[in-house]
Amino acid sequence: MPKFNKHIFICTNERDKKSPRGDCGRCGGLEIRTSFSKLINQNGLKGIVRSNKSGCLDACELGPVVVIYPDNIWYTGVKVDDVEEIFKSSILRNDVVERLVADKETWNRLEMIRKKP
Ligand code: FES
Repeated sequence: MPKFNKHIFICTNERDKKSPRGDCGRCGGLEIRTSFSKLINQNGLKGIVRSNKSGCLDACELGPVVVIYPDNIWYTGVKVDDVEEIFKSSILRNDVVERLVADKETWNRLEMIRKKP
């Protein structure tokens, strides 16, 4: 039996500023995590839903990246302003925010970015 009903992983990884891959830590990962934690507390879901800082989730170029389990929902390009919408949709309603959810096109785009010399 899982300890939490929902587990939100927010990439807060930081790497060298010169890295062409970028990172989620410097584009808002920590603030996003803080916003999720506040919403969990405000909605009385502490101990039921958990938000965790995570290391690199291997989609750095499209970050910040947020993953929600057990639903296996991946969001890319998340902004702090998107957190409430994600929370209401994916945590409270078991739905997805279509405009942010990663799909086949998202992963194809990532592959193309990484193939560029
Ligand atoms: S640094 Fe966030 S996915 Fe890699």
